[in-house]
Formats: sequence, C-alpha cells, structure tokens
Amino acid sequence: MTVQSRKSPPTHPGYLVFNSKEIKENPLNFYNRMWKEYGDLVRLPIMPNYSIYLLAHPSYAEHVLSTHQELYAKPDIVNKPFNLMMGESILTSEGDFWLKHRRLMQPAFHMKQLAKLADVMVSCTESFLQEWEKKPDGEVIDIAEETLRLTLKIAGQTLFSKDISDEDSVLGQAFRTGYEFINYKMNNLWTEPLWIPTSRNQGFRQAKQTLDKLVLDIINSRRQNPQNRQDLLSMLMSAQDEETGERMSDKQLLSEAITLLVAGHETVASGLAWTWYLLAENPNIIEQLQSELRRVLNGSNPSFEKLPQLEYTRRVFDETLRLYPPAWAMPRTSKQDDQIQGYLIPKNSLITVAAFMIHRHPEFWENPDQFNPDNFLPEKVNQKPNFAYFPFGGGKRICIGKSFALMEATIIIALISQRFKLELLPNQNIEIDPTFTLRPKNGIKVKLWKRN
Ligand code: HEM
Repeated sequence: MTVQSRKSPPTHPGYLVFNSKEIKENPLNFYNRMWKEYGDLVRLPIMPNYSIYLLAHPSYAEHVLSTHQELYAKPDIVNKPFNLMMGESILTSEGDFWLKHRRLMQPAFHMKQLAKLADVMVSCTESFLQEWEKKPDGEVIDIAEETLRLTLKIAGQTLFSKDISDEDSVLGQAFRTGYEFINYKMNNLWTEPLWIPTSRNQGFRQAKQTLDKLVLDIINSRRQNPQNRQDLLSMLMSAQDEETGERMSDKQLLSEAITLLVAGHETVASGLAWTWYLLAENPNIIEQLQSELRRVLNGSNPSFEKLPQLEYTRRVFDETLRLYPPAWAMPRTSKQDDQIQGYLIPKNSLITVAAFMIHRHPEFWENPDQFNPDNFLPEKVNQKPNFAYFPFGGGKRICIGKSFALMEATIIIALISQRFKLELLPNQNIEIDPTFTLRPKNGIKVKLWKRN
C-alpha cells in the first residue's frame, strides 16, 4: 500500500521516556488525560522516531483490529513476558503458526462443546459457595480475591478436571507464581533478565519447571489411559487438522493449556469483581436481577438450556465489561506505513486501541459513566456502530473464549445472587489497577449475607 499522507495527528509535546513515572504509575489516567486533551487519535512520542498512537474511536478500532488487521501484529513487549510462561501459543503467535492453532482449538469452544462444561461450572460454583455458607452473616470478604479463586477453580476443572485453586495444589501454586511473574514483567519497563539469579527469577524458573512437569504428566497419563473425559484438554488432545490430519504435540498441548489458564481466569474474575461493586451501588438493578432469577429459575440452579432466558443477568455482565473492560487497551505494532483518518501511522509504531475510552465515548454512549444494563437491550445494541463495544476484541484475533466467559459469568452471577446479598463496606478506596487486566487495586470488601 502506498501511503501518501505525511500529516501527523495531534501530538503530545516532549518524549514519554521523560514522563515514564506517570505512565508507569497509572497508564489509564495518563491515556485518559491525553484523550481528553488531544482527541480520538493522539501521537505520544516515546523517543525520536518511535511513538505510541492512542486510538479512541470505534472506526479506528475497527481499522486496526478488523478491516486492516493484516497491517498490524501483537507487539513483542507484550508477547515476550507471556512466552516465558507458556512458550509460543495461540495468544502470542502470528501467521501460519497462529492459524494452525486457532483452527485446531476453535472446535473446543463451539457451543455444542461448551454445553458440556456448563454443569461443571455450576458444580464448581456450588462447592465454592458451600464455603461461603459456613461463614457467619455479615462477615467481610474481598470479592476480588474470591472471584479470582473461583475462576481458577473453574479453569482447572474445565481444562484438566482438577481443582488447582486449592492452597495445597502444587500445580496451582506453580501456576500462581508464574502468573505473578509475568504480571510483574509486563508492568515494569525494566526488569532483570531471566539469566540473572535473583530470587524472583529463580522462583519463576522453579515454578515453570514444576508447572510444565505436572501438566505434561497429566497429558502423558491421558495418552496412556484414553478415556472420554469432557474437559478442554481432552478436546484439544483429540483435535485434528482437517487437511493434514495432524494433532498437537505434547509441547504444543502444554503451551496451549497454560495459555488458556492465563487468558481465561483473571479476565473473568476481574469482570465479576466489578459486577458486584456496580450492583452494590445500584440496588434498583439488583431488584430487577432478582426478579428475573425468580421468574426463570424459581430457586433451581442455572443450566445451559436456561441461559438464553437469563437476559437481564447477561446484560448486567455486558454492561460491567463496558465500564471495566478487563482487556482495557489492546496493543499492536504497525508492520508497515498506514493511514488512519488521513494521518500517517509509520511502520513499527506502537498502537493502543483504547477499549476503556471507546466504551465511555460520549458520542456513542448516553451518560457514559453510568451503570445501565439496558444499554444492552437489543434495540439499543442495533443502533451502535461496530466497535463501539468490543471487550473481547475483534477481527480474526477475537477472544476464542468469549462464549465460555459469558456462560461462566452468567452462571456465577445467577448462583451468587440467588444465595447471597453482598453489601459494600463503606469508606473504601476503590481504585482501578490498570495492569494486565483491570482489577481493583486494593480489592473490594463486601459484607456477606445469606438470602433465605
Ligand atoms: C471476560 C473475560 C474475557 C475477556 C474480557 C477477554 C478478552 C480478550 C481479548 C480482548 C482478546 C483479544 C486481544 C487482542 O486482540 O489483543 C482475547 C484473546 C484471547 N482470549 Fe480472551 N477474554 C476473556 C476470557 C477468556 C477465556 C475464558 C478464555 C479461555 C478459556 C480466553 C482465551 C483467549 C485466547 C486463547 C485468546 C487469543 C486468541 C487469538 O489470538 O486467536 N479468554 N481475549
């Protein structure tokens, strides 16, 4: 493509290397400030000849993630920390490798397969809530920590049929150490290279060795005793390339299994933690939610068949992901010169597709900061342009776990709301931690009450 425009968009004066404290401390606040000051397409020079382009308009998001996606790739600064934990996988690869893996893995996420996992999600949540039942009324819990524990439990059971959320689970401990390490790598501009024997690096190496060994043991034992298990790992093990008949090697299975744990647990947990924060602040919405749950479930558990009727419950989660999208900024690098809205985007620039800002863009959302699940009534959704809402990304790299996540969240919201009332503890400093996902920085403390 020949790019004629040399026109540069509104640009922040000075280089970001000299502002790194503000960006490091709170990139979300910084980007928000840039958006408000400069508009929907801003150039943020990092150093000479290297800039971030902040995109905060649905049509720019559509350009990068969908219509011109072949001109953009996921950047190394994001891929490298992930690859330390899981090796090359669907999340971080490009080209033929990515396509091959996406084709192999996609069938495991089809509705027909997911239907088999709904009961697992229900029974995991039930056994988790049995612990809550034992707590005295009014006990304070951190709902952000709790949802993380619950989604890790569900991730382990749906993937390997194992509970890795248990404090005693060696696999769970190794996973959590590895996960904290990649979070640290992603959130710090400079970190010690892995070959330096710091205690953090050594801890990671050890955890990674343990994790790989335990997951490979599971894969081996399944190869030796092939039973028809209904979990994602068995689906991945039996997946076959339609053209070549090829299956995934043990190494590939290992990488993809760890990828699904990484990509699939904190994202859902963080969305759910904000759901309870928003619900606790909006009692009228809790009323409508309760009335739907009574009408559709009448005290019974949610099931795969009932999910389409839980429309309001689903809208509550959709709206939470609008206000607090776990993947709040989707990073890309430009593979060649491009042009957006007449502005030059030079090759090798860093692109931030700002879902957080687009989801609150006043041109596309009425009262953008207000929690209103009715924003997702079908008639309202139909009026919105593409990419006014895209918590799961878009184009060919759209989240493979989207239906899994929506099913899981709807089930969890229904089961918790049927059994418990969560009351926000007053005077808390609720802050967003804009790291890998958009989790609450100091947690969210709530009092737990059983419903009769
Ligand atoms: C609310 C929960 C979730 C959110 C908001 C979310 C969001 C996203 C987004 C935005 C992307 C695309 C990133 C980009 O283009 O830069 C993505 C990709 C991905 N997600 Fe999710 N996700 C969620 C849950 C899950 C779950 C439950 C799984 C697996 C069980 C999963 C697995 C993946 C994988 C493997 C990819 C990479 C797909 C590819 O590149 O082909 N996600 N997710």
